[in-house]
Amino acid sequence: TYVVTESCIRCKYTDCVDVCPVDCFREGPNFLVIDPDECIDCTLCVAECPAEAIFAEDDVPENQRAFIAINAELAKNERWKPIIERKEAPVDADEWKGVMPKAHLLDR
Ligand code: SF4
Ligand code: F3S
Repeated sequence: TYVVTESCIRCKYTDCVDVCPVDCFREGPNFLVIDPDECIDCTLCVAECPAEAIFAEDDVPENQRAFIAINAELAKNERWKPIIERKEAPVDADEWKGVMPKAHLLDR
């Protein structure tokens, strides 16, 4: 499966969702996750993300491994709904691009 990591928080550009053939992205207040039970490993979303937030599970950087479980958990949170079309990014998305750490800002 593929995994959305910390870089997405408060950036949430949503370019990723437009290319996903199985609509497996789920949306929270300031972050997206991938449902690991539905991702078919097509790789298409990786290149779409301006924040370079998406990795194959095996390639998730060491300091981002917690996001594997976070994606799995939040994908099953009933408040996190499918998102299948790109939408406007937050107005301050560019200001958060590349800012680290921001895992503590993840809004569930
Ligand atoms: Fe969707 Fe493909 Fe990305 Fe998986 S790898 S989330 S199937 S676009
Ligand atoms: Fe997040 Fe990148 Fe998608 S910032 S919403 S993973 S395009």
